Amino acid sequence: MLVSGGFVYALDSDGIAVVTMDMPGQAVNTMNETYCDYMDETLNSIKADRDKLKGVIITSAKKTFFAGGDINKILEQKQLEAWDGAFELNMRLKKQLNELEALGVPVVAAINGAAMGGGFEICLACHYRIALELEAVVGLPEVSLGLLPAAGGIVRSVRLLGIQRAFPLLVEGKRFKAVAALEAGLVHELASNVDDMMLKARAWILATPQAQQPWFAKHYKIPGGDGFSPANAMMLAGAPAMLRQKTRGLLPAPEAILAVMAESSCVGYEAAMMIESRYFSELLRSPESTSLINTMYFQMNEISAGASRPSGIAKNKITKVGVLGAGMMGRGIAYSTALSGTAVVLKDISIENAEKGKDYSRQILAKALARGRKTQEQVDQILGLIETTESNEDLSDCDLIIEAVFEDVELKHKLTREIEPFLKPSCIWGSNTSTLPITLLAEAFSDPARFIGLHFFSPVDKMALVEIICGEQSGDDTLAYVYDYVQQISKSPIVVNDGRGFYTSRVFGSFCDEGLHLLSEGVNPAIIENIAKAAGMPVGPLSVMDEVEIELMRKVGDTNLELDRRLDQDFHSVHAKLQDLSKEMCELGRTGRGTGKGFYDYAADGSKSLWLGLAEKFGGTEVIPTEDIRDRLMFRQVIETIDCMRRGVLESARDANIGSIFGWGFPAHTGGTFQFIDWFGGEDAFAARAAQLEASYGSRFSLPESLVAIKAALDK
Ligand code: NAI
Repeated sequence: MLVSGGFVYALDSDGIAVVTMDMPGQAVNTMNETYCDYMDETLNSIKADRDKLKGVIITSAKKTFFAGGDINKILEQKQLEAWDGAFELNMRLKKQLNELEALGVPVVAAINGAAMGGGFEICLACHYRIALELEAVVGLPEVSLGLLPAAGGIVRSVRLLGIQRAFPLLVEGKRFKAVAALEAGLVHELASNVDDMMLKARAWILATPQAQQPWFAKHYKIPGGDGFSPANAMMLAGAPAMLRQKTRGLLPAPEAILAVMAESSCVGYEAAMMIESRYFSELLRSPESTSLINTMYFQMNEISAGASRPSGIAKNKITKVGVLGAGMMGRGIAYSTALSGTAVVLKDISIENAEKGKDYSRQILAKALARGRKTQEQVDQILGLIETTESNEDLSDCDLIIEAVFEDVELKHKLTREIEPFLKPSCIWGSNTSTLPITLLAEAFSDPARFIGLHFFSPVDKMALVEIICGEQSGDDTLAYVYDYVQQISKSPIVVNDGRGFYTSRVFGSFCDEGLHLLSEGVNPAIIENIAKAAGMPVGPLSVMDEVEIELMRKVGDTNLELDRRLDQDFHSVHAKLQDLSKEMCELGRTGRGTGKGFYDYAADGSKSLWLGLAEKFGGTEVIPTEDIRDRLMFRQVIETIDCMRRGVLESARDANIGSIFGWGFPAHTGGTFQFIDWFGGEDAFAARAAQLEASYGSRFSLPESLVAIKAALDK
């Protein structure tokens, strides 16, 4: 047995070498220079034993097989602009995997857990892949970080699967659990446990005297034909346009991956590998990959690790949750909670209402059963966790209450006072309010330290974010408790402080407000909507206001005005246009999608068209430069985010970025509302553009404070 740093190499009497990857000091194996050193030494050991060698099995001593590229290293290379070093490392990785593949003996990947990115590229260089049925998951998710698999991942998977079948793996970055990976042709065999896997690996080696990697044969054949075959040539001619239509041309990574797939399928193996590396170098330099790595990798990991959770408090296990109100939100919260294996008491004003709320879970689960995603036993088990009631007594053993009744201060206060006497003294109270101050709602609870905001997004079962709002007196234990609950139900928490609209509704409101400024200045509404989408927003501001319901936005605005007076704040001036125009629209009977009439007209066949009266009312012929419209819509959201930081509503860039992407669909390729500043070109470029917008369009584009000071405060 030889130990090469983090790799253990053992050759047995049958001539089968087992390489066990176990990089020291790391929870997971990653691809970096250290890995390359271990791999070089291991390859040397293998080559030294070449005469005795019948085959090689590669596996891992970690829980996962291999995590992928070393993202810290990639970010460091980007920050230092160490492009030559990055290219050298890439060449070294490729050379090693080529050597492994060309050993001349069969090499088996024994995939004992997740093999992602670079980890799966190692597997692809092996001649046979066996995966643990329950533990293994494979994929090449580089596209989600604005990069591409550059250690031969594209070249090999196109040659393994064919161009068309490689799309989900490469362009969509889809992850495949073991069974799906077998069906997709990504692994050859499944095993039930490690011993079974190693036995199967040995058996295959002994039955397969020669390595059989198709692309090493002189005349390899790509399944389904190479890039010149008529069907592929036709498909590849239209594919870039179709992709760009989907990504709106905002994402360089899927476009680059598609280009490598196409080009690499028209040339020999060596040239294909160089093409892959060249495109990788370009993506490495892109601002999109910096943003995505920063937010979707590092900041998302920080959230998973509990970065905004108070430290030193033991992890909580929540066993029973009471949900008040079985309407649109309550029913979704009940479903998501039960799905995680947590018991729920779903209460409404009548048992019929509560049962109707539970029907929602029944419907989703029936679909899952029909599609084979859940078994009858699982369905019964989840439904069995949801108890419906109209009685307060049934809430007595709940650890956490989530209130999701109508958005009305008096009703929420009344309900809180009425229910509290039935609860355990330790029970935490969370309100799903989307607009009402938590500190105000907590006034009705005897211990405001156990009161907190838990703002879910609609539809709850699909939306991964929960905005936790700390009232002035919410305790650290309470925050830690609900943070654990949100993670227990597999959602991502962001933590903000109390303030009108908290973070997400406030900043989302500024997007709508700016859309209405543009409309009232006479800009054509179709142009406003299209430019918002071209900038990466999921839908335009007018469309989204119809969906949320203009009537609801007006009501919320009215309540806010009244609360502003009571609490001596001035929120109205921030979203004044939104407030005034939503009122006007409601007076015209145009209340939103629900009534079929809003900024759009909704036809019975489901189609919609912009209301012609908008042109009459606002003109619609004013011409403003496209970049100004785009930047106004985006900058307002970023400036409002900065304002939330200045006011202490937000305490981290991480929560701002993740909240914006998962809360209201702020374009992920920018990295979120705060990362946007770097994506745009940095603080100076952002400040200069904000100053231009301020000079032309008003003080709502003025930066509240030096960006440098805000960033410095956040870095502390
Ligand atoms: P909804 O109108 O669909 O449901 C409210 C439910 O509460 C109804 O089933 C009603 O019967 C029940 N209810 C009323 N009084 C009750 C009482 N005393 N005891 C028990 N149940 C009672 O409302 P929705 O949309 O679910 O909103 C609920 C809360 O969630 C509101 O505070 C809203 O602001 C907030 N919210 C709503 C979002 C949305 O997209 N609809 C998003 C995020 C938060």
